[in-house]
Amino acid sequence: MERMSHIDNLVARLERREARIGIIGLGYVGLPLALRYSSVGYPVLGFDIAGDKVERLNNGETLIEHIPSTAVQAARQAGFEATTEFSRAGECDALVVCVPTPLNKYREPDLSFVINTLESLTRYMRPGQVVSLESTTYPGTTDEEVAPRVAANGAVVGRDIFVVYSPEREDPGNPDFSTHSIPKVCGGVTPDCLRAGMALYGQVIDRVVPVSSTRAAELTKLLENIHRAVNIGLVNEMKIVADRMGIDIHEVIGAAATKPFGFVPYYPGPGLGGHCIPIDPFYLTWKAREFGLHTRFIELAGEVNSAMPDYVVSKLTAALNERRKAVKGSRVLVLGIAYKKNVDDMRESPSVMIMEKLRDLGAEVAYSDPHIPVFPRMREHHFDLRSVALDPDVVGSYDAVLLATDHDRFDYGMIHAHAALIVDTRGKFAEPSSHIVKA
Ligand SMILES: NC(=O)c1ccc[n+]([C@@H]2O[C@H](COP(=O)([O-])OP(=O)(O)OC[C@H]3O[C@@H](n4cnc5c(N)ncnc54)[C@H](O)[C@@H]3O)[C@@H](O)[C@H]2O)c1
Repeated sequence: MERMSHIDNLVARLERREARIGIIGLGYVGLPLALRYSSVGYPVLGFDIAGDKVERLNNGETLIEHIPSTAVQAARQAGFEATTEFSRAGECDALVVCVPTPLNKYREPDLSFVINTLESLTRYMRPGQVVSLESTTYPGTTDEEVAPRVAANGAVVGRDIFVVYSPEREDPGNPDFSTHSIPKVCGGVTPDCLRAGMALYGQVIDRVVPVSSTRAAELTKLLENIHRAVNIGLVNEMKIVADRMGIDIHEVIGAAATKPFGFVPYYPGPGLGGHCIPIDPFYLTWKAREFGLHTRFIELAGEVNSAMPDYVVSKLTAALNERRKAVKGSRVLVLGIAYKKNVDDMRESPSVMIMEKLRDLGAEVAYSDPHIPVFPRMREHHFDLRSVALDPDVVGSYDAVLLATDHDRFDYGMIHAHAALIVDTRGKFAEPSSHIVKA
């Protein structure tokens, strides 16, 4: 009997849920995906360079607030295992790469995590595997950086090893969507690569959307995030205009959103945060330069959004001034230091930038965040602080309370009743009042 080709064998193993799935990078993206594969019956092996994360997962502990430890324990019972041993890559039929793609200090793409991962994996790869890159990146990364490395040992991409790009669309903390119900885009280097990608995701994601190339898939993800960054920039600019005209931007957005077509509401805030929206658009800016093009909307949105922490601080300064107080020496309590509501993720959080600016101006800064009990160690920021527990006396003891992130767990009625001054960057306190300043 003729031997089955690698692609037929791989697709059959994926469809029968026999294929072993390797997930590389067990963070906000990789961990939920690993648990999803495990929950539908695939054997899953998770890889990470962080030994402490691997150990905690193997002990059945979660690493992310919105994923319960019971989900990790259930996966462990079903055979999920985490490891730092990249030599075990050969045990897997699929290798799904979910490592960070940040910017360097010149705001250029830093692909070092992706490249280091590939370099640790490739020597252990074998024919019959599919490699999927999920990390957000510029168009051309999979073709230019992933495929050649996979082929370095003589494997032919599209015949021996299959390479796809399938961007993650995780929205941590959003109760309406989970990994399986968010449609997933997938592009392959060759048609058989795409076939492998569709089989890889088809069993765990309700709807997989094929596109004609990895570049199209890469740009799809960037377009989604650029769309958000630009529209948030637009409403942030509108917020300043509306404020100067004495109009409440939140009332306006609410009214505009009653239009049943052609308008999508975006909300202003203290600036962009998170690992994606402030960063990903600049991956395209960088790549576009190679083609002699400028991405003006991205630059403009970046300029408007990154000016927001200064705008918020200027509103606070003016409000204190009104009360014959200076920022220097004032006690300011920042509510919410996660970058968005109801999560424990502080990456790129504008709250931290605001806290730093206030500290530089001489304010005594404290914070309260029910999701972040202790201010964590960060590469570029240092605060030796713990979250302040809120009660009427505590809230009343500050010169100003600055709402930066509108977690549901805050008691807004109590804050409203007891704060001397509230600077609201989220439109949470709709009713005008002499002690509320919108920022
Ligand atoms: N967080 C999100 O909501 C989200 C959404 C869509 C896309 N993304 C994209 O997904 C990618 C991953 O983001 P994340 O939020 O999961 O990051 P994360 O920091 O939460 O997780 C990354 C994990 O990779 C590990 N890691 C780093 N280098 C490694 C290496 N060489 N080998 C193995 N593991 C390594 C880290 O220890 C960490 O556990 C990024 O490109 C991001 O832009 C994130």
